Parts: sequence; C-alpha cells; structure tokens
Amino acid sequence: MKARFLISRFDLQLDTTPRLQEYSVDVPKGSTVLECLNIIKWTQDGTLTFRMSCRSAICGSCAMRLNGHAKLACKTQLSDVLIDGAVTVEPLGNFKVIKDLVVDMEPFWASLKRVKPWLKPDESVEYERERLQSIEGYKKIEDASTCILCASCYSDCNVLSVDERFLGPATLAKAQRFVYDSRDCDAEERLEYLGGANGVWDCTHCAECSTRCPTDAKPLERITELKAASMAHRIHGNNGARHVLAFRESIPGKYPGTGGGMINENYIPLRSVGIFNISGLLDLIPVGLRMFMRGKQPPMMPHYIKKFPEIRKMFSRFKEYLK
Ligand code: SF4
Ligand code: SF4
Ligand code: FES
Repeated sequence: MKARFLISRFDLQLDTTPRLQEYSVDVPKGSTVLECLNIIKWTQDGTLTFRMSCRSAICGSCAMRLNGHAKLACKTQLSDVLIDGAVTVEPLGNFKVIKDLVVDMEPFWASLKRVKPWLKPDESVEYERERLQSIEGYKKIEDASTCILCASCYSDCNVLSVDERFLGPATLAKAQRFVYDSRDCDAEERLEYLGGANGVWDCTHCAECSTRCPTDAKPLERITELKAASMAHRIHGNNGARHVLAFRESIPGKYPGTGGGMINENYIPLRSVGIFNISGLLDLIPVGLRMFMRGKQPPMMPHYIKKFPEIRKMFSRFKEYLK
C-alpha cells in the first residue's frame, strides 16, 4: 500500500517556522506509524529526526501528533490514521520544538518535580523492613502508576495552551499516586499545594488528557480523585473548593435567599471568590455591570422548582452517607 506522509520539519538553529514535507512510502501491511518513519529515515531522508526507543509502548519516547492529536507512533497502526491515503505528523503541542518531531521536554520534567514525586515516610517511626502495600491500597494507586511519561496529555491539554504555569495532567496524575498511597504521610501538605494556584482547580474537565493517554493513568479521573480528597480533608481556602461549596449550599439552600433546587447565580460567584475577599469581589463588578447592561443578570431570588423537597432529601441523604 502506498501512503503519503506530511511531516513537520523544523530546525531551531536555522528556521523560524516549521514546514510540512511530503514523503511517499510503500508501506508493508500491518505497519505502525513508527515503522513507516523508520523506512523514511533509513531509505529516503536520514535528516528526519524523531525519538524512539522501546517500540513497545513502554518508554513513552515516540509520542507525536498524528492528524493533530497526540499518540504513540509505535502503538498506532498506520491504517488507523490514514485519511485519503495520507497522515500529518507533527511534534507534541505545548512544547518548544528542537528539531522536526523532537521537543524540549524540560518544562514537563520541571512540572513533575513541583509535586515531589516520591514517598515521604513518617520520620518519627523506625521501620525494620520495607513497607508493603496492601492489595486494596494498591488498587487506589494502580492506574496512576501505569503512566509512562509520554507527555501526550501535556501536548493536548487546553489549559496548558493558554497558561504554561498549570501543573498539567501527567503531573497531577502522579500527585494522585502519592496522595492516595497509604505509606505516604504528607497527603495534607500535598493537597494544600495542589489546591493552590495552577493546581487541580484550574483544570477545565475537557477530558483531552484522558482521551489521549495510552495507558490507564487517565489524568482527568485522577484529578477528580484529588479534588475529592481535597474536599474530604476540608481544604477549602481556594476558589475551586469554595465554588464546590457554593453549589452544595446554593441548591438545597443553606442561607436565606439561596436554594430552591436550582443554583443561585448571584450567590455562586460571591461565595467562590470569598465573601470577605474585598479585592476579589471588586474584580467581579465589571463582569456584573456588563451582564446588567446586556440584560443578562440572573434573578435576585432563586427559582423554586416543583421537586425541591425531594432535592433537599437527596442532599441530606448524601450528607448522611459522607459521615
Ligand atoms: S481535563 Fe484538565 S488536565 Fe486534562 S486536558 Fe483538559 S484541562 Fe488539561
Ligand atoms: S498520563 Fe498518560 S498521556 Fe500523560 S504522560 Fe502519563 S501515560 Fe502519557
Ligand atoms: S518507542 Fe517506546 S513508547 Fe514508542
């Protein structure tokens, strides 16, 4: 089978913008994208540069964007990505490109270091032997442990595209692995850090990371678990946690003027920013004014929906369940 490859070419030393170069390859049946890239490199153009090592979806080094989405080239059958006989091959997104398909991974490693990805034992205890993890305990950290650090999630994360300070999906998945490890004694401190600026609450739940992840690490699921742990540890001193509380209080109606079975859109932003956070509240004024000018302001009092008593019951049952 003949296939066309449109491959991004760029040399940081020589070029200002990347260009797509076309190669035509006679592809043996059942080839992966990586095997095709090797055919091009070994038979047509030795200057084509990309990373690879294991060729078995273990080392994570061959991640690149195929038709705009990050994938492992060694795990992807060419036939699965061909569109009208062609595939576009580009380097991972959200990274600086060094040459062709090779990116500078330094920001990715730097982000990982920020969450101290190692076990912190209880220093006051003298351990006589290694501490084993129970099967039940391992199940809580098993998925995150399958991460191969390929950075596919980092490449396609929408938040990282606009804010490089965000910890990013792989780092947060790694953090979940330590927060949920029963042998680590620093969960509280870790969660405080993760709940701060550029942490778990900055994720917009777009799910790109979990869709692109080639393993069971599935970062969005791990981020959700971190948020749950954060709330369980009552780490509420940040906008994200306050936003969750605002929903929980607003729907069943914790204070007069809230409740009714639907969210109270006047209460949510005030509670999320913090009732005593004067500068945060002042920042809301321009948005409020713009909404008012365009007739978009929410009603002052909450709407009461017909099944409100049932919703209240659901909330109290949930409260009982959490005890
Ligand atoms: S779900 Fe969150 S972490 Fe994952 S890609 Fe989207 S914004 Fe990034
Ligand atoms: S979480 Fe998944 S996509 Fe992200 S680096 Fe790990 S294995 Fe790759
Ligand atoms: S070469 Fe190792 S994951 Fe593809």
